Amino acid sequence: MKHVIDVTTPGGAYPIHIEPGGLTTLGGFTRSVAPAGRVLVVVDERVAADHGVAAEASLASAGYEVTRHVLTATEEKKTLDSVRAIYDTQLAARLDRRCPLVAVGGGITGDVGGFAAATYLRGVPLIQVPTTLLAMVDAAIGGKTGVNHPRPEGPLGKNLVGAFWQPRGVIVDPRTLDTLPARHLRCGLAESIKHAVIADAGLLELIESSVDAVLAGDDGVRASLIARSAQVKVDIVEQDEREAGVRALLNLGHTFAHAIEPVPEQKLHHGEAVAIGMCAATQCAVATKRLTTDEGAAIVAAITACGLPATLPHAMPMTPLLTAMGYDKKVADGRLRLVLPVAIGRAVVADDVPSDVIAAAWRSVGATEAAGS
Ligand code: GLY
Repeated sequence: MKHVIDVTTPGGAYPIHIEPGGLTTLGGFTRSVAPAGRVLVVVDERVAADHGVAAEASLASAGYEVTRHVLTATEEKKTLDSVRAIYDTQLAARLDRRCPLVAVGGGITGDVGGFAAATYLRGVPLIQVPTTLLAMVDAAIGGKTGVNHPRPEGPLGKNLVGAFWQPRGVIVDPRTLDTLPARHLRCGLAESIKHAVIADAGLLELIESSVDAVLAGDDGVRASLIARSAQVKVDIVEQDEREAGVRALLNLGHTFAHAIEPVPEQKLHHGEAVAIGMCAATQCAVATKRLTTDEGAAIVAAITACGLPATLPHAMPMTPLLTAMGYDKKVADGRLRLVLPVAIGRAVVADDVPSDVIAAAWRSVGATEAAGS
């Protein structure tokens, strides 16, 4: 069954097509929204030989002359150098302003390819073809593009350089998930749980009842779950394209997650870090009496039902985590902003969570020392 979700933002209106086998429609769809003689496919090297080739075949059959640019889609390579390499390919192929860029891969491919699309010749049409569950339900929707960049003190800062650039369309083919490892599928489920917790209580039940079918490869169940999760993202982006307000709710769990994701010993993928981060945020919400204990337990139960971690794989001291989440700097002027669930299906941004509550939340997910020690 095909699901179509229309997105309307100040930066552009476009459809999201969610359909098993939908990759074969890419060429015709692209021709309808970005007619041109040539097209650039920016593809993650991990899916170039299968989904990349299928995307190119569909575009070629719609009459496009296809140029391929293969990307090493890792956080380390999510840099301006990778964007420059795309510009070089575009220039070498003499691609002009009408020629679309089709990004085939996960969130990093969409972000890097999307930023090249936003900036080459001051902007060319972008089509997002997400091939990870995480990108299908979240990253490919809403127009955020960009790269990491080193901070003055050294380490890469995530997504420090970028642009809002809405795609002309998003083609989601759940069958492309057949090649995705189960661990990555679970990471996508973490972002779906996030959407459920902030805006759609029924989605949480749907996730728990469909997790087995999603992992087993049921196309129809996958499509329905993607559509329901994507709808939450669309509703939020339509209200707040540029994250001036409600879009910040999509950061549930992320302030904690960004602290643990780069810790090498934890070996966490983004979705796993978000799962642990959501448990910590839930703990803060319960401790500050914004959320009932039962609702908090239900959120953690959904996370574990999806096979996601609720605690750190390896115990570690919390002091570096507090530093990494900007605790010391931001609390000093009262600005550590945390997204907290206040019910299943509703969340708020809070900037008044006491330090001892944050320390207790870290302890509840496996960190090992008191704040300030
Ligand atoms: N992934 C969060 C956002 O797009 O705002």
